[in-house]
Amino acid sequence: MRPEERITELRELLHEHAHKYYVLDAPVISDGEYDAMFQELLALEKAHPGLVTEDSPTQRVGGPPLDKFSQVEHRVPMLSLENAFNDDDLREFEAKLHRFLSRGLTLSYIAEPKLDGLAVELVYENGLFVLGSTRGDGKTGEDITAQLRTVKAIPLRLKNNPPALLEVRGEVFMGLNGLKKLNDKYLRVGKQPFANPRNAAAGSLRQLDPKVTASRPLDFFAYGVSTPADTGQTGQFEMLNYLGTLGLPINNLIRKCDSIDEVIAAFNSLTDKRHDLPYEIDGMVVKVDTFSVQERLGNKARAPRWAIACKFAATQATTTIQRVEFQVGRTGAITPVAILDPVNVGGVTVSRATLHNQDELERKDLRYGDTVLIQRAGDVIPEIVKAVTENRTGKEEAITMPANCPVCEHPLEKPEGEAVTRCHNPHCDAQRLRNLAHFTSKAGLDIEGLGKKYVEQLYELKIIQDIPDIFTLPRNKLASLDGWGPKSADKVIAAVNERMTPPLGRLLAALGIRFIGEVTATVLESHFTDLDTLASASHEELLEIEGIGEQAAASIVEYFSDAQVREMLVRLQEAGVKPMVAQPNADGLPLAGQVILFTGSLQTISRSEGKKLVKDNGGQIATTVTKKTTHVVVGEKAGSKLKKAQELGKTVLTENEFLQLIKK
Ligand code: IVH
Repeated sequence: MRPEERITELRELLHEHAHKYYVLDAPVISDGEYDAMFQELLALEKAHPGLVTEDSPTQRVGGPPLDKFSQVEHRVPMLSLENAFNDDDLREFEAKLHRFLSRGLTLSYIAEPKLDGLAVELVYENGLFVLGSTRGDGKTGEDITAQLRTVKAIPLRLKNNPPALLEVRGEVFMGLNGLKKLNDKYLRVGKQPFANPRNAAAGSLRQLDPKVTASRPLDFFAYGVSTPADTGQTGQFEMLNYLGTLGLPINNLIRKCDSIDEVIAAFNSLTDKRHDLPYEIDGMVVKVDTFSVQERLGNKARAPRWAIACKFAATQATTTIQRVEFQVGRTGAITPVAILDPVNVGGVTVSRATLHNQDELERKDLRYGDTVLIQRAGDVIPEIVKAVTENRTGKEEAITMPANCPVCEHPLEKPEGEAVTRCHNPHCDAQRLRNLAHFTSKAGLDIEGLGKKYVEQLYELKIIQDIPDIFTLPRNKLASLDGWGPKSADKVIAAVNERMTPPLGRLLAALGIRFIGEVTATVLESHFTDLDTLASASHEELLEIEGIGEQAAASIVEYFSDAQVREMLVRLQEAGVKPMVAQPNADGLPLAGQVILFTGSLQTISRSEGKKLVKDNGGQIATTVTKKTTHVVVGEKAGSKLKKAQELGKTVLTENEFLQLIKK
């Protein structure tokens, strides 16, 4: 046999046996036999280096170390999941689905164990594994292809006629056995062990040297793909089976449930099993099975409407409150934070817990020196459940909110009926600094090299006092600062210059206006052509926008009517900052340029689904009949709005006529 023939044969055999061993967990040959074939292949490839291919099983040992991770944009964003914690939350999840969709649809679900590891995306082109990445912020992750190649459960090549492009999503995790061995070793050599399997998985994958990753016992399960309907399957259950036939590992505890009661039963059964599994799970993911229904439901900002993560009950521990810090937030809100004697809660060391606000302090009657019960549910921030009053000695003193701001000493205010105590001094150093740090942070304009620490330094040195200062940094002064130098100064200035034309929504979110987070900012961006028009919009105009509520509208009007804000915006403009507006490309969509209002009770679709259909088809939603409204869709028992529409001569549509309008 020619060497190339034997090499191909050995690769096929090794692939097949690796699949049986790592994916199906059912080996049919001994480790010794596998090793012998592997060594033979290694020797042949060494003798014929030209015949080494990327998908050879010998290529899993880890390539050369990288300098840094490069960024990968996900073609389709990787979303996260909302949480449920009990039966009631699951029932509410189903009720919401029914409220969104039309009545009377029976839903079936898939229940999957929620693995506690790291979400990754694996791109297969013509069956070959070509790119692997972390989830990152959902839009952009890090290229960890070289590291993922070393994970034996991840096929380097798919079997059975795979599609031309397949973007698989799943979880890389470390089994409990492997983790224990690794941690035992760490303890022996005096290294800090991993606190939990998730840290272990993340720490092992984020290694620039893939050989280190190769030495870690990582495992993988696939749970989805970027565009499920493209797989030619009709639902999640079918699709997971299909992924299995391609050679991808699928968890064997996945269940199909025909009602929410069955989902709840599956959750209870998984809760009982969880401690007998060789890997850690932190809950169960529930997904609507049918893809066409998933599509109708669509996504919210960060998570799909059609899935939810039901988390296992929290882990608890007791510790004592040493002292309390009062933090001043970006908006002047004062938050008491308990500093605790460090304690391990379900694998994570906890030394601080928020006490939220005065009402919460009073409700829980917490005192300095108290023994407290704390809990952590999933990734949720640890919280204090209650004081263990039996342990009190009588010396514990009540924790009360200070009368003055701990930073600027301005008297604090707590309006009647509100929970939050606030410092209203607009010149409060803590607020100004936090605002600036927010502006440059990832949630803001994401200016590289201007992290919190540096913003603090530049604020203290009075180089940055307000937002416009960021855009006029004095290069030479920066270069001469402690810990800087010409290189860092140039880098930061270049990073700032890159942000001179931020998307309008991004700039709005960065400004830190109360109630205007990333999502609301994007809504505003899609309605306003420039900052000036937004700044002069009236309360009523803002309220007409779907997704802008009373609080947000009031906050925007208040913000832009402030003389200091106006002056700041002028200075921003002078510094050359010019926000861009990405016009949503509605061209060619059936409802481009149309403003549609729903009134009365709809019969075949729900209000929410109707609104989503309008947006998806390039139209806008109106909530009152105005000049701009083009169509009014009427359900049963339509009243005054229909009358007004008729008076103004608007096009009135039945539900069916509306659906015809957007039919593809
Ligand atoms: S589905 C759009 N399925 O949980 C659906 N996620 O909070 C997004 N996870 O980032 C994820 N097991 O890391 C899904 N069977 C499973 C999962 C799972 C674990 C993780 C995943 C994701 C996080 C969502």
